[in-house]
Amino acid sequence: MPSDKQLARMAILDESGLERVKAMHPWIFRGNLRQIPKCAPGDLVAFTDRGGTIKGWGLWSESALSIRVLSYGTKRPDQMGLLRERITSALDWRKTWCQGEEAFRWVHGEADGLPGIVADLYGDVLSLQVSAAGWYRHLDKVATVFRKVRKLSSIVLRNETKHLEKEGIPKEVRALLGEIPAEPLKIKMGSIYELIDIEKGQKTGAYLDVKNIPRMIAPLFKDARVLDCFSYQGHFGLHALAAGASEVVGIEQSQPAIDIARKNLEINGLPQKMDWICGNAFDIMRKMDSDRERFDVVIMDPPPFSPSKGQIDSAKRGYKELALRGFNRLKNGGYLVFLSCSHSFSRDMLLSTLNEAAMDANVSCKIALEIHQPFDHPVLAAVPETDYLKGFVMGVQI
Ligand SMILES: C[S@@+](CC[C@H](N)C(=O)[O-])C[C@H]1O[C@@H](n2cnc3c(N)ncnc32)[C@H](O)[C@@H]1O
Repeated sequence: MPSDKQLARMAILDESGLERVKAMHPWIFRGNLRQIPKCAPGDLVAFTDRGGTIKGWGLWSESALSIRVLSYGTKRPDQMGLLRERITSALDWRKTWCQGEEAFRWVHGEADGLPGIVADLYGDVLSLQVSAAGWYRHLDKVATVFRKVRKLSSIVLRNETKHLEKEGIPKEVRALLGEIPAEPLKIKMGSIYELIDIEKGQKTGAYLDVKNIPRMIAPLFKDARVLDCFSYQGHFGLHALAAGASEVVGIEQSQPAIDIARKNLEINGLPQKMDWICGNAFDIMRKMDSDRERFDVVIMDPPPFSPSKGQIDSAKRGYKELALRGFNRLKNGGYLVFLSCSHSFSRDMLLSTLNEAAMDANVSCKIALEIHQPFDHPVLAAVPETDYLKGFVMGVQI
């Protein structure tokens, strides 16, 4: 039985907290606690039942997400030993599922037992996001452990998201090992090479979660006229060209992304049959409505519209408008490829939204393929929040 002094340093769970622990959910919120421990942000704390029996250990945070669970049982884990073990096993998973891939997500937070860490590998360069105070305070050690598990030329910290503030972590981009690459890296992404700007590119440099989708839909591209909406650095459109598309139009609001996409077209020696329109996709799609342009394949890969539960209605409106405009741009027998990376917007919500848009567009749809997160972004079966990427490829009859 712990002494009163020891007990004061522990988080005592209420019934809801104990339920979460039983379900092996790695997040314990402030509302799941009977007693807030006397400790500093980032400390490794024990969480207990009412009688003081230790149920497990996690990283303390001053935010509403109070504890990120690292381990269960009474034994205090060695934090760096646990890190090494988990990044090794995360790498083993990728060795099985991402064979021969030059870029992949090495650590996907909770799904790899490491809440607060996302690590994307591009060749020998690691692009790292550390969003929990309990890891941030040991940043140099964290970098050393990654370096010990795999040969790396640089580790670049890409800490820029707005959630960092709640953890008291500064926004910063800096090298933790080696130097930030002076030039974008040339990385094989699927069947083409892409330039990845580790310092300024979106996310950690690229959208690795959609990397394999062009390969899955390659049969649609032969001789097709393709619209790649939200095209970033041209990943879908350039794969479409490589697979025989007759012409591709990209829509993207970021001019730097379009500039890199043009270079990607060149470095792959692809035919100059892709062009980009820079601007807001909603406005451009509205204009295309009045011009009545038609495509064989329309790809929609928008940014997240509902990061939180409160934004579901507005997300639905956004998705529906895009889907409707996408359907309206298709030739008879064409395909709509529609993706959502909104955490709170479920697969069923997306399907019903696409169906509503199809009804309004007066088209009939047949699902050719359902898209889900790739192997390097695993979903924890017990944690629905880790399941965020969904999509449908629909054959459309007008
Ligand atoms: C999910 S990413 C697309 C990733 C891309 N499909 C790929 O394979 O790399 C969303 C993209 O949409 C762009 N974007 C965000 N809002 C936009 C808008 N309203 N109009 C046009 N582009 C937008 C972002 O700059 C980003 O490149």
